[in-house]
Amino acid sequence: MPDRTRPDWWKSAVIYQIYPKSFADTTGSGQGDLAGITAHLDYIRDLGADLIWLSPVYLSPQKDNGYDVADFRTIDPRYGTMEDFRRLVRSAGDRSMGIVMDMVLNHTSSVHPWFQDALTGGEHRDFYIWSDTDDGSVSVFGDPAWTWSPEAGRYYYGSFSPHQPDLNWQNRRVRQAVFAAMRFWLEAGVAGFRLDAVPYISKDLACGRRCQGPDLHAYLREMRSALGPEVVLLGEDTEADLEDALIYTEPGGSELNMIFEFGIEDYDRRGGDKWHTKPLDLPGLKAHLARWQEGLEGRGWMTLFLTNHDMPRIVSRWGNEGRWHTQSATMLATAAYLLRGTPVIYQGEELGMTNTKMPLGAYDDLESVNYIRAQKKAGADPDQIAAALYGSSRDNARTPMQWTPGPAAGFTTGQPWLPVNKNAEWINVQSEEEDPASVLHYYRRLLTLRRRPVFTDGHFELEAAEDPHVFAYVRSLGSERIRIECNFSGSPKPSPFGEDQGRLLLGNYEGSSDLLRPYEARVISLTQAG
Ligand code: GLC
Repeated sequence: MPDRTRPDWWKSAVIYQIYPKSFADTTGSGQGDLAGITAHLDYIRDLGADLIWLSPVYLSPQKDNGYDVADFRTIDPRYGTMEDFRRLVRSAGDRSMGIVMDMVLNHTSSVHPWFQDALTGGEHRDFYIWSDTDDGSVSVFGDPAWTWSPEAGRYYYGSFSPHQPDLNWQNRRVRQAVFAAMRFWLEAGVAGFRLDAVPYISKDLACGRRCQGPDLHAYLREMRSALGPEVVLLGEDTEADLEDALIYTEPGGSELNMIFEFGIEDYDRRGGDKWHTKPLDLPGLKAHLARWQEGLEGRGWMTLFLTNHDMPRIVSRWGNEGRWHTQSATMLATAAYLLRGTPVIYQGEELGMTNTKMPLGAYDDLESVNYIRAQKKAGADPDQIAAALYGSSRDNARTPMQWTPGPAAGFTTGQPWLPVNKNAEWINVQSEEEDPASVLHYYRRLLTLRRRPVFTDGHFELEAAEDPHVFAYVRSLGSERIRIECNFSGSPKPSPFGEDQGRLLLGNYEGSSDLLRPYEARVISLTQAG
């Protein structure tokens, strides 16, 4: 448990992300629900979580699985009722956990009553962004950013898709309406918000969608003062650099508590193209992480994460799905979660869940479906399309949570909305509970170890920067020094430090060895006795 008397208790918290549609179904609908989350709260607490971030559960036509909100104050009936939500908040609170809602700031669904009213020129007209011309810009998911509305007789703007018209944050009434919706959930007892697609809210359309507008930080400060200092705010900024992070999260907190930064994604993709992967450039990744760890020390805060509902599964990405499954899953967690920052574990990651091979027709994700369509049109080979999806589709993270080796992995008694991964036979909560050497048990040990203040507050130092296979760093606080050594390769490698001179606090192998074994992780205390 973090020390809640510290105003910055959230720095030592652990966050667990739930994608509600895929977590646990109690009705047989084939989709997860709130009661399913409530039923598994002990599991989440035992993992070591303090906060649970729920991907959106608001009323939604589900074009983007809830990131297209039709009403910010209503629970979608597919997930349950407001009473179910209150029960979840209470039951989590009984276990000392808080709920973090996902706030979709940048857009609504096109069926939201505000947009429907805007189309007919009603009082919400200026809640959205209109134009008489289409400048040809393209949305994040590959559609035209400007959509013609015959009803309005104009184009409207959607950074992500035509189903998600952008809100006009220049309009004070928009900001007030969004802040009021956030207060509604605070009154229902939530601890904070994960803010979706933060930088998009202030635009500079003249220079394209990726250009941050001039008012972003003013809007966030306005939000902070509307909500108060205690509310935990995590911001998603896929483009943030270190300078942005320092403004967002400077101590004193007039904007956000922490940001998700996605620079780590650049080290295994060709030319920044998400569909073209390449082997991980570990020295590049290490230098990147070191720059952020050093740059934020005493000056800002970030989350630590290996995957989320938009990213492929990390074992498939940087690890090994076969012989070294357990070792690679546990090594990657060790490398990531002993850095300085707040860990955010995505459902199923603690089991070592992997990417999934699905027939092209089974993909649900808007972005993946657009990609398939565009590739087919361009005459691409179906096997190549399938390989790209297997490496990068967002649906890899969205397959149902694997609870048991039984039918539909114990996720539902009905027909799951997305296929269950076949490896649920051996990667599942029940089997891993029974195996003390499982990924799940290791995550629990790792997150317990992480409670030591040295991991929250300690200094970071990269070691063996040039080593192409081993990521090693030291965390230190006062007289305590701890070295983390991780072999990112599937073959044995010499330790850059020769024979170990310290005491092993945690490792993912039995017994000792001169060499670092495939995907071995060691956490070693270098603190001198006495
Ligand atoms: C964020 C969400 C993603 C969603 C998008 C549009 O990037 O994480 O799932 O599709 O915003 O809301």
